[in-house]
Amino acid sequence: MNRRMLLGALAAATIAAAPLPLAAQETVKIGLIIPLTGPFTTTGKQLEAAARLYMQQNGTTVAGKKIELIVRDDAGRAENTARIATELLTNDKVHFLAGFGLTPLAMATAPIATNAKVPMVVMMAGTSIITERSPYIVRTSFTLGQSAVIMADWAAQNKIKTVVTLVTDYAPGHDAETSFVGQFEKQGGKVTEKIRVPIQNPDFAPFLQRVLDAKPDALYVFTPSGVGAILMKQFVERGLDKSGIRLIGPGDITDDDVLNGFGDAAIGVVTAHNYSTDHPSAKNKEYVAAFRKANNFRPNFASVGAYDGMHLIYEALKKTQGKTDGDALLTAMKGHKWESPRGPISIDPETRDIVQTIYMRKVEKKNGELYNVEFASFPDVKDPVKAAKK
Ligand code: DHB
Repeated sequence: MNRRMLLGALAAATIAAAPLPLAAQETVKIGLIIPLTGPFTTTGKQLEAAARLYMQQNGTTVAGKKIELIVRDDAGRAENTARIATELLTNDKVHFLAGFGLTPLAMATAPIATNAKVPMVVMMAGTSIITERSPYIVRTSFTLGQSAVIMADWAAQNKIKTVVTLVTDYAPGHDAETSFVGQFEKQGGKVTEKIRVPIQNPDFAPFLQRVLDAKPDALYVFTPSGVGAILMKQFVERGLDKSGIRLIGPGDITDDDVLNGFGDAAIGVVTAHNYSTDHPSAKNKEYVAAFRKANNFRPNFASVGAYDGMHLIYEALKKTQGKTDGDALLTAMKGHKWESPRGPISIDPETRDIVQTIYMRKVEKKNGELYNVEFASFPDVKDPVKAAKK
């Protein structure tokens, strides 16, 4: 190689290594991967609506950078989520991965986020272990244990002595079962049967007949968001609503999104959860009004996971002054504290998991609509599964 060629090669290398043109550098991209088709479409719709509402209210420029949201449908299938995450990183060069409507979808993406050193904001999935799968994961949703333990205490203190548990047979269902059973039995309660129902095409009817025959004081149920509608229909068809067996559980079963379709049979169902459309704070009233105005449905607990996830992304970018280095963004997110429509929340700096108030609620009819009306609150609840491991 002569001198001129060498200089030419060096110049080409310099150009290749030079910073991107200003326009490309100025955009921060968020890849939102959610189920917009398939059995968990309602979850995806809630997540997308809330993320868009946050951007509409807070603008699309943060720390001098333009924010771009790229929405992709994974149909609730983990192989799609992982493929889409890789495409978003490689082709679109996203700076954040977000969404994750179900646990298996988050689990499949965790190693991809680790390899790319890109923050992964889990806005819906609720299995405890998820945050341990990558140091780049932060969670703005909830864990099933948070509600299950509070629910168990309430049951034990409210004349419920025997319980049958019925959960969807996958990781969050197992967490919901284990946390409830452990705490309820610690309080002297008795779990007489533990039933697990497949996630695909669930038919609760045969199990509900068994529950009717066993006559426990309460039936504790976990199903993922939206699926509660099938359970409730079969609960009424089998006459369990008139059997004296109380229906209790984490609030996924009385999901605000589908609750109105349950009819009056749902009145009186008691659940523990992190968010109710009916939460009486000024911040939530404003949120619900804006959400309803922008969409033709009301916000549920999935929506606040996305709304708060967007807030966390915006605030982290402000703290890093627009820098998109994954480690710097994670540092900015750890320990962040703010007021959500659900109440005060923070990101545990040690676990990167959410700390939040859990509410006891009862389904009531107000102005012709069914709501989860809060009657007790338990502030600063951390994930009990991780706390027990320490
Ligand atoms: C999960 C999904 C849900 O729809 C829900 O309500 C709770 C947990 C999950 O897969 O983690």
